[in-house]
Amino acid sequence: MRLMFIGDVVGSPGRQMVKEYLPKLKTKYKPTLTIINGENAAGGRGITEKIYKSFLDSGAQAVTMGNHTWDNKEIFEFIEDAPHLVRPANYPEGTPGKGYTYVRINEIEFAIINLMGRTFLPPNDCPFRKADELIEEVSKRTPFIFVDFHAEATSEKQAMGWYLDGRVTAVAGTHTHIQTADERILPNQTAYITDAGMTGPYDGVLGMDREAVLKKFLTNLPVRFEVTNGREQLNGILVDVHPKTGRANKIQRIQISEDKPFFE
Ligand SMILES: [Fe+2]
Repeated sequence: MRLMFIGDVVGSPGRQMVKEYLPKLKTKYKPTLTIINGENAAGGRGITEKIYKSFLDSGAQAVTMGNHTWDNKEIFEFIEDAPHLVRPANYPEGTPGKGYTYVRINEIEFAIINLMGRTFLPPNDCPFRKADELIEEVSKRTPFIFVDFHAEATSEKQAMGWYLDGRVTAVAGTHTHIQTADERILPNQTAYITDAGMTGPYDGVLGMDREAVLKKFLTNLPVRFEVTNGREQLNGILVDVHPKTGRANKIQRIQISEDKPFFE
């Protein structure tokens, strides 16, 4: 059994890549479960109901979020009615939405957990202790557990990988938008990557217009970052999972761009 995860989808260029390549990736790799990080999907900030539904229509079964969860106000209108939309679980008690969900496909039930780091990000509840709590809960139902750890610091993400090794199927980092080449199966059969990368503009800075980002670096003046256009990319991972134990035995990276063309 196999799961596919698509890294942070940024704006309409990212959505376009999902629409074009997700069906092709599904035909080629035949994942049982497909998850998308959609926290930057609406113009780089947040998600709308229409976009959430379009991801499900394209073939994903769950959508994870991150620090931009609340940036598009529309989310407050539909998050409680979006069963497969998952926002970071370590937000304070009483926050709308939920931090984990279950997806059943044939005989197998998957738990999908979203957590957010605290290093260089707003202070939230401890993601490590929240992970303990949620894993204890979902493990009663299933050994198939996917964790999207949305965090800035490589160290925090790597620490989470080690912390959860042997207790979940996979820990995939998101948020930093550049895919890391450290994918591995940890000693106790948890698949790990520091960052799955992003899906969207290929020639910007983390998906944003590079001129604006350069202006910020060169002048320090306030600048509004917008999603850039032009060439596009798709990044993600595939994890092969033992169909009984829920532990991972293989992880591979997906990269599609003009420099790394997709072959059907
Ligand atoms: Fe983020």
